[in-house]
Amino acid sequence: MEARQGQPPHALKTRQPDVRSGFTTEARNPAGRYAELRARCPVALQQGSAGTGANRSAWLVTRYDDIVSAAGDPQTFGQSVRFAEQRRPPLESNPPEHHLWRQTLQPFFVTRAMAAIEPFTRSLARGLIEPLVHDGAGDAAHAIARPLPPQVLLRWMGQPPSDWEAVKQASEAAYFQGSPDPQDRARFAAGEEFLWDYARKVVAARQASPGDDPVSAMLAATARHPEITVRLIEGVVRLLLAAGHDSTTSAMGMCIEFVAANAALQTRLRAEPKLIPAAIEEMLRLRTPVLQMPRTVMADTCLAGRDLAEGDAVLLVYASGNLDETMFERASEFDLHRKLNRHLSFGSGIHRCLGNVLARQELRVVLEELLAATASFGPAAQAQHEFWHPNGIARLPLDFRRA
Ligand code: HEM
Repeated sequence: MEARQGQPPHALKTRQPDVRSGFTTEARNPAGRYAELRARCPVALQQGSAGTGANRSAWLVTRYDDIVSAAGDPQTFGQSVRFAEQRRPPLESNPPEHHLWRQTLQPFFVTRAMAAIEPFTRSLARGLIEPLVHDGAGDAAHAIARPLPPQVLLRWMGQPPSDWEAVKQASEAAYFQGSPDPQDRARFAAGEEFLWDYARKVVAARQASPGDDPVSAMLAATARHPEITVRLIEGVVRLLLAAGHDSTTSAMGMCIEFVAANAALQTRLRAEPKLIPAAIEEMLRLRTPVLQMPRTVMADTCLAGRDLAEGDAVLLVYASGNLDETMFERASEFDLHRKLNRHLSFGSGIHRCLGNVLARQELRVVLEELLAATASFGPAAQAQHEFWHPNGIARLPLDFRRA
């Protein structure tokens, strides 16, 4: 570490940054940096951190137990809500309002509701995989991981899956936020406009003709709860139009790449498909798709010996918690038979991912279909990582041998 080596955390009363901006995210070996922080400075002040707004320092919380305790205490570690009306609940909301959104949306995310969409996911997966197997080669990130999750999301929302390409393109433009390049900024602005416009149209359509879908359920809840407004429902839809597929795309590319590169694992999963869910959990743990998420300190507090002040920014580094040896034995190893794999890839506490059952289903169905359709598949050239989710894969050239 560049600063404060060897000092116990409780000795650190200063507000001088412990690490520079990008200390973990720009490292060639982030796992090594995470381990260093967990051992020497588990709550570390990072200088001007891109994830929390320009030039704003943030506390990196890197130990599993500290992440879980901060995520479980939303009164102290809340969401900063900058644009009160144009925000995106439930992520950008705090209790007690947060509970209303979760309560209203939860029935549409339970296992039974998700099972209803599985046949669509499976037939879509088969249709996307078949041309690759037929050709014997292709880019699995582009051909499977990019198109499948947005189509499943739109179907779940009651929208035409054929809108997926426009939605995907617009949500990818979100990653140009803050770029100094005027062209990037224009792409970002156009993407934002498209997604908000799409969200408003979805809400207006359900107002005109309600159905048995999440948006209609939220609209019905406006009569019972003044906190739930039409404007905020548009924000929920806007959130889902990105959160509902972009991390799944990253995770799907990552899982396919992992299995492609591990021939022994691939053979084992093909022979015993019931092990696929455990393999997915372990891949999600080892290669956390969403590295970290922000919180704001709502009242002065102390975490792992550090004094945090009201208004401070905090980053819960899920990717580090997932490699914490105090929680996971031989944390850096892939273990298909790991007991109690309570990883943090879907977060923790009240904001834990609402869509985790759907995401897990999509990953499982794609791996099941890919393994069943092939005798083997493996890397044909170097994979390219996404720049926005470093564990996600943007290009994944593979060779396929038909089953
Ligand atoms: C593998 C895929 C996915 C990953 C890795 C992932 C990851 C996460 C994480 C880490 C959080 C917690 C955010 C925080 O702590 O601030 C979260 C929240 C959320 N996710 Fe996901 N997610 C995935 C897929 C999905 C899908 C498919 C949907 C919806 C269809 C979804 C909807 C949401 C929503 C609505 C929240 C906010 C929940 C709240 O604030 O109460 N996610 N996700």
